[in-house]
Amino acid sequence: MKALLTVIKRIHRAAVCTRRQLRSSSCARRSGPCPSPEPHGALVTGSSWELVQRLRTQVEVRPAFITEEEETALLRELEPGLRKKRYEFDHWDDAIHGYRETERVTWAPACEEILDRVRAAAFPADSPLLGPVHVLDLDKAGYIKPHVDSVKVGWTHVLRRTVNICLTIGNLDVRCPVACGSLSSVLIPQFCGSTIAGLCLLSDSIMRLVKEDCSKEWLDLLLPRRSLYVLRDEARYKFTHEILKDEESVFKGQKVPRQRRVSVICRNLPA
Ligand code: OGA
Ligand code: MN
Repeated sequence: MKALLTVIKRIHRAAVCTRRQLRSSSCARRSGPCPSPEPHGALVTGSSWELVQRLRTQVEVRPAFITEEEETALLRELEPGLRKKRYEFDHWDDAIHGYRETERVTWAPACEEILDRVRAAAFPADSPLLGPVHVLDLDKAGYIKPHVDSVKVGWTHVLRRTVNICLTIGNLDVRCPVACGSLSSVLIPQFCGSTIAGLCLLSDSIMRLVKEDCSKEWLDLLLPRRSLYVLRDEARYKFTHEILKDEESVFKGQKVPRQRRVSVICRNLPA
């Protein structure tokens, strides 16, 4: 914690320098003071000032989004299920190394309240959300390789009295609802929309975004323990995202030690 505070203090200092430099150039002509940076501006850096500014509404980091007590409540609910699983290390082609994961649809009221706050902060009021919340537990040695979240995030069981059968007749795709008698469990695909919102538990970490078709354009996000991050639109579709491994976890020249990290991720459905 002390190390993180030092990093944040140093970063604030760096941000002040940047503002000073700005004031002496473009802002010098203004009569009033320069606009203050975002409160979380110190937690985002990138290949250029312009890129950080351009993605300002699409990349958000909100430090201290939850309290220590709320972090404990979430972990109390998640730990028993996670502990039953083993960390996966050996799938060399996986986007994630050293992880275990789960999905959860129903939560204790205290946790549901936290998730409602996440949803209110991240998604427009009328945005349909993916029902299950994704929980990803990264071992201290685990990391997430660069990837763009697939629009298809998986399959889910729903209870239906009918299933849609797709038939191709000539050039036409026809969907036919077919009764399956009593209520039956049917697998349907789940799609992920324009916004991804993640709560970060147990460890600070660095998320790196790199433009898919131009790797010179990148952002690094310092995600403090108990922060919320949100990726939207271009930042979600056109940039890969990754969580750096401990050895590479450095933000503006400062080491950010990576411990075991649990993320609780909410996604919306395509519009
Ligand atoms: C993912 C992912 C980020 C995180 O599961 O696709 O990128 O914060 N997770 O764990
Ligand atoms: Mn992802």
